Amino acid sequence: MGGAKPRDTLLIVDDDATARQVAQAILSADNYEFRQASGGEAALASIAEREPDLVLLDVMMPGIDGFEVCHRIRTAQTRAYVPVVLLTALDSASDLARGLNAGADDFISKPAPRTELRARVRSLLRIRRQHLELVEQRSRLEAFYKQRESLVRMVVHDIRSPVTACQLIASSLLGPEHKLSALVRQDLETLREEARRVGRLLEEMLVMARQEEGKLSLSFERVDLREVVTETLAALRHAAGARGVKLESELAASPVWVGGDPALLRRVVDNLLTNAIKFSPHGKTVQVTVGVHRDKAMLEVLDEGPGVPEEARSRIFEQYEIVKMREAGGLQTGLGLAFCRMVVEAHGGQISCLGRRPVGSRFRVTLPLATQD
Ligand SMILES: Nc1ncnc2c1ncn2[C@@H]1O[C@H](COP(=O)(O)OP(=O)(O)OP(=O)(O)O)[C@@H](O)[C@H]1O
Ligand SMILES: [Mg+2]
Repeated sequence: MGGAKPRDTLLIVDDDATARQVAQAILSADNYEFRQASGGEAALASIAEREPDLVLLDVMMPGIDGFEVCHRIRTAQTRAYVPVVLLTALDSASDLARGLNAGADDFISKPAPRTELRARVRSLLRIRRQHLELVEQRSRLEAFYKQRESLVRMVVHDIRSPVTACQLIASSLLGPEHKLSALVRQDLETLREEARRVGRLLEEMLVMARQEEGKLSLSFERVDLREVVTETLAALRHAAGARGVKLESELAASPVWVGGDPALLRRVVDNLLTNAIKFSPHGKTVQVTVGVHRDKAMLEVLDEGPGVPEEARSRIFEQYEIVKMREAGGLQTGLGLAFCRMVVEAHGGQISCLGRRPVGSRFRVTLPLATQD
C-alpha cells in the first residue's frame, strides 16, 4: 500500500465508551485514523473543526440523537459527501425510514458484526473518494475555464485600441483636405466601416461577458426612444448610402419615454439597422418606426431583404446562430442579435423577428414605458 497516502479519518460517535472502543478495535484491522465523540454535540463540534471521511453514528444518545446529527451533517457545507453509518440496537421499519430521511447511507445493527462493519465502511469510503475526485476535477475545470475566459477578455480588450486607431486614421484621411482618387476613397471607407464593425463586436463581447458574470450595471435614465433612433440613423446614413439602401423613419409625434441605458439601446438599434442594411439588396428601403402600442414602447426595423425563414426566427437570437445565405452582403458572426436580446431583456422588454409580405423581415422590440415622474 502506498504509505504516503493519507489515512481516512473515521469519527465514531456513541455515548457508551465501551461501544466506541469495540467499534474502533474492529476497524483498527484496517489502516484508519480515529476520532471519537461521546455525544451529538461533541460530534458536530468535531466535524465542524475538521471534516472526517466517514461518521459511525449511534442512534440512541441523550441530547442530540443520531438522527439529528445525521440531518445536520447533510445540511452542513462539507467539501464532499461525508458518508454516515447509523449504528442501532433497534431495527424497526420506522427507525429505518427516519434514518434514511435524515440522510444516512447505511444501517448496522448493534453489536456490529466484524466483517460486515469493515466491508461497509470500506465501500462507503470508496464512494467518498470518488466524490472527492469529482469535486477536485470540477474545481480544476472551473479554474481552467475562468482562466481562459479572462484571457479572451484581455485580448478583446487589447484589440480595441488599435481598432479604434484604424477607424480614426481612416476618418482623418477621408477629410476634405486630402485629394484622393475615388478608388482610394472607397477603400478607406470600407476600412473605416470594417474597423467600426470589429470595434462594435469587441464592445458587445465585453458587455455580454460582464452580463454573464452578473456584473453588468445599467445606467438607467429616462430616454426618448425616438432620439435613440434619430442618432443611430444619422450614424448609419453613410453606410446605407454606400450600399444603395434608403433609410426611412416613422416616429411618433410625441416623446416615447423608456427607462434605460441610452448607449446600450443605441447599440440595439444600431445592430438591427446594420443587419437590415447588410441584408438589403441595392435600391431597397429600410424603415424604422417608433411608437406606443398596447402600453408599451415599440420599435420596429423593416427591410425588403430575403427575410428570415420561420424555423430560424427564434434561433437567430442565440449566440453564433446565423442563417446561411448564398449572397450575404457581409460577414455573419451571429453575435449582434444575441447582444440585442440580452440588452432588451435586461430592460424588461422583448425582441422578436417576424415575417413580412411579399419579402423582407420585421424586427420588433417592445419595452416598458417609463413611469411618469
Ligand atoms: N434583417 C435581416 N434579414 C435577414 N436575415 C437576418 C436579418 N437580421 C439578421 N438576420 C439573420 O440572423 C443572423 C444573426 O444575426 P446577428 O446580427 O446576430 O449576426 P450577424 O449579423 O451575422 O453578425 P454580427 O455579429 O456582426 O451582427 C444573421 O446572420 C442572418 O442570418
Ligand atoms: Mg448583425
